[in-house]
Amino acid sequence: MQRSKIAGIGFYVPKNVYTNDDLKKYMDTSDEWIQERTGIKERRYADRLGETTTTMGVEAARIAIERAGTTAQDIDFVVFATLSPDYYFPGCGVLLQRAMKMKEVGALDIRNQCSGFVYALSVADQFIKTGMYKNILVVGAEKHSFGLDFSTRGRNVSVIFGDGAGAVVLQPTNKEGQGILSTHLHSDGESAEILAMYNPGTHANHWTPQWQSAFDEAEIGQLFMSHAMIDEAQNFPYMDGPAVFKKAVIKIPEVVEEALSQNGLNKSDIDMLIPHQANLRIAQFVQQKLGLSDDKVYNNIQKYGNTTAASVPIALCEAWEAGRIKEGDLVCLAAFGSGFTWAGALIRW
Ligand code: ACO
Repeated sequence: MQRSKIAGIGFYVPKNVYTNDDLKKYMDTSDEWIQERTGIKERRYADRLGETTTTMGVEAARIAIERAGTTAQDIDFVVFATLSPDYYFPGCGVLLQRAMKMKEVGALDIRNQCSGFVYALSVADQFIKTGMYKNILVVGAEKHSFGLDFSTRGRNVSVIFGDGAGAVVLQPTNKEGQGILSTHLHSDGESAEILAMYNPGTHANHWTPQWQSAFDEAEIGQLFMSHAMIDEAQNFPYMDGPAVFKKAVIKIPEVVEEALSQNGLNKSDIDMLIPHQANLRIAQFVQQKLGLSDDKVYNNIQKYGNTTAASVPIALCEAWEAGRIKEGDLVCLAAFGSGFTWAGALIRW
């Protein structure tokens, strides 16, 4: 069966830099707390009006398409991963298709949060392997800054996230041994509510009795989003950080080991691990568990925060641009996040 390869890669981050000290204007926090717990020094926020998740995805896509030696008009399928879409519906895929003046190609949106890009890559890989498409654009992009609680109430979540986008173009390859060797997708919905944005939604709050009052006050037609829900901060992400942390440090190494074992490879064969940039402490735990040296793991959360679906392609692209990934290298992508979902991919560059 034909393998797919990353033929082009690009990323885009907005120009507006927000340091940890900048966040002190809005909430009770400190540079020391944020750096010690997460490793983050600064993050980027999109222009309030000029930039959206889609426009950032377009910027990253333009670079990836050019580097792949192709054009937007030759892309035959789009897969767009995000948790912060421009609209509740339709998804960002069609908005990107329109903005880039593509042909009337299929555009699929992926909703797997931090592991969204690796899920998207896996989906695209299957379409190349079957021969259905030959030039697939895979995008991960987020505009978190529009949907975070910047008061002290939301500080455990809001200090972590940043905006940005990354993109790759997948094409078939005939080169022996090159390309995506395998992808590995997992989920465990038992903990869906410990890292989630509850409203707007159709769940009718049956699992959060402590917020029942918001629903009791709502009239029919107001159950999707009401003033009371906003008063209760249900329109912002909720996260039980320590619980997420504990699971992430187990599941990320597990999926890396699974990928290696399926391909008959060892940890020492990895040339570059790109872990999802959720928290530098998580990445360091993973690195230690896998016994990898510093030069074999790429982290950039210090500069960008957690950009969710964009984090893996941004880090992958930066590592490649810095010459840290060369032809023939074994590159491993691994991500974990809300759902829970987690995923891994092994690539011979
Ligand atoms: N500034 C200052 N103090 C804070 C802040 C802040 N920004 N946020 C929380 N605190 C306080 C808390 O109120 C708490 O105070 P208390 O002890 O007086 O109650 C104290 O700091 C400790 O809070 P914890 O939440 O226990 O802190 P922890 O060390 O666990 O760090 C963090 C929190 C950084 C969120 C960590 O748990 C984490 O990174 N978890 C994993 C996050 C993750 O991987 N998410 C998945 C990706 S996101 C996605 O998929 C959408």
